[in-house]
Amino acid sequence: MKIVIVIGARPTFIDLAPIIHHLKDRSELLIYNTGQHYDREMADIFMEQLRIPEPHRNLESKSGTHAQQTSRIMLRCEEALMEDKPDIIIVKGDTNSALGAALAAAKLKIPIVHIEAGCRSFDKTLPEEINRVIITHISTLHFPPTTNCKANLIKESIKEENIGIVGHPVIDSINLLSGKIKSIRDDNYYYLTIHRDFNTDNKDRLRYILTSIDKIKDREVIFPVHPRTKKRIEEYGLNKLLTNITIIPPVDYITSLSLLKNAYAAITDSGGLTKEACILSIPLITLRPNTEWIETLQGYANQLAFADGNDILGCIKRLDENYEEAKDSMRALNIFGKVGISRDIVDSILEYRYSI
Ligand code: UD1
Repeated sequence: MKIVIVIGARPTFIDLAPIIHHLKDRSELLIYNTGQHYDREMADIFMEQLRIPEPHRNLESKSGTHAQQTSRIMLRCEEALMEDKPDIIIVKGDTNSALGAALAAAKLKIPIVHIEAGCRSFDKTLPEEINRVIITHISTLHFPPTTNCKANLIKESIKEENIGIVGHPVIDSINLLSGKIKSIRDDNYYYLTIHRDFNTDNKDRLRYILTSIDKIKDREVIFPVHPRTKKRIEEYGLNKLLTNITIIPPVDYITSLSLLKNAYAAITDSGGLTKEACILSIPLITLRPNTEWIETLQGYANQLAFADGNDILGCIKRLDENYEEAKDSMRALNIFGKVGISRDIVDSILEYRYSI
């Protein structure tokens, strides 16, 4: 079977690496890199560590407004797909890379396999929510990462026979690198990441987030900063307000997993880090009013900092007071399946009978 798989933004390298490893010897696999992320520390280093082979096509779509980025990806994918004529295309998640490629494929009547299907935050102000809802309704075969995501698909009238096995390939990506995760002697720190425009492009909110977190004095805060967030911190003049937070450049995947695994807790607006924290049993504070990973919202495992009545320092206080419960709740969550799930997903992809 001739298969195109689409990567291009940081989380797609991470989550699709094990699918690529299993597919490359069992199909005629073509890798398209949309180029949504292009800095070495946002892209190449992830591909190297996760041993992703050289992509067959580099579409160099880069940054822009959502419409610019998505339409560039769509146009360049369309051209490539018309030449390559694959039997199916695989996209993952909710990035503009996934949406652009899926739209191009759908119009060419190429069946779409969607990995990480059925996640819903029910918040249409988030670009990712728009992307994932649209991708669901133009895809042929859906792989939900959790049973809750499967239930969301069924509620949206996706037929059970078009829904594959439940589980998330990231569990295999973490397993692939588990021997390389380092221990960090001083583990008394928070691991902080912020990259969503909901937080970065609102000056008051970004100032509130950073100045609140900067008040944490009993623990260090380690903050690898996304390029967009860095730009905004400089533009808003927030650097001078921060005395406690340790800002470092974006980190590679092994370093990120190492920082996460040894942290007291993570503070983040990233869906990817939420999954990894859940797999590594690290308590979380989410810098959003909602999350598509609702299973994590129990027993202080994950608190939403912008949900009604919550504030960041209140979340920190509750975490300190209930830390063991938070840890135990995270440990008890086993929502993404088992190591080896990627092989099962690949078996289903190859066995399914596709029609549009
Ligand atoms: C995208 C995804 C998001 C995912 C995140 C992971 C969408 C809609 N969002 O968000 O779901 O969680 O990737 O990081 O697709 N930039 C650089 N160098 C790079 C890449 C980006 O400087 O290599 C800067 C550019 O100024 C760019 C900005 O970061 O405009 C945002 O990048 P973009 O890919 O548009 O979105 P992310 O916020 O990374």
